Amino acid sequence: MKINIAIDGPSAAGKSTVADYLAGKLGYIHLDTGAMYRAVAWAALKKGLKLDDAESLLKLVKRMRLDMMKDGRILLDGHNITPDLRNNEVSMAASAVSKIAALRSAMVERQKEIAKDGGYILDGRDIGTVVLPNAELKIYLVADSEKRAQRRYKQDLSSGLKSDYNLILKDIIKRDYDDSHRAASPLTKADDAIEIDTTDMSFEEVGEKILALALNKIARGEEND
Ligand code: DC
Repeated sequence: MKINIAIDGPSAAGKSTVADYLAGKLGYIHLDTGAMYRAVAWAALKKGLKLDDAESLLKLVKRMRLDMMKDGRILLDGHNITPDLRNNEVSMAASAVSKIAALRSAMVERQKEIAKDGGYILDGRDIGTVVLPNAELKIYLVADSEKRAQRRYKQDLSSGLKSDYNLILKDIIKRDYDDSHRAASPLTKADDAIEIDTTDMSFEEVGEKILALALNKIARGEEND
């Protein structure tokens, strides 16, 4: 039996890394829903659109072909844009475009369709609450903002990117605020999600903890089949 796993939480809490870890261990597919909002933001910046212009952004979404590949690559109209999506400018723009309710509906519909047969790990902000309210396992990851900024800073340096710790921290705090205070599907913990504070945990520890929970759900699902 293949379950779906929802992982939500604020930016840079380690959702993607942990989702990749679980996908490897379980043979499941990781869908990074934040990358979908990043791809729209990247295309909007490239076209010089205003990030609060709902009408133009929706037109853009309707016209663009976004392929979320099983290996994690993101293709926009056939071009691999994956390496362009992680910088601060795109992060802030993704947070801005993700406020638009109609744009969110289009993304949510795609995400539900992709995960409909199970065997997926989706990470984002609204997975347990809106995208997969019936997911068999829901996780809500949190960590201190300083710790999240440190992790992102180290990640940038090890990927050979130029980085600025203070700027990352400032952006994380702003995105936390914006993502949790927007009107459309704000970041909130689902009532039935298990919260894990990863501040003092390694990614492997977090991954192993969620893996144990997932294996338990899968085993119980098989017993009931
Ligand atoms: O997870 P991330 O940092 O890559 O997400 C980028 C932005 O997209 C984030 O600021 C909020 C938004 N987002 C969202 O609103 N809903 C999701 N399911 C995923 C991301």
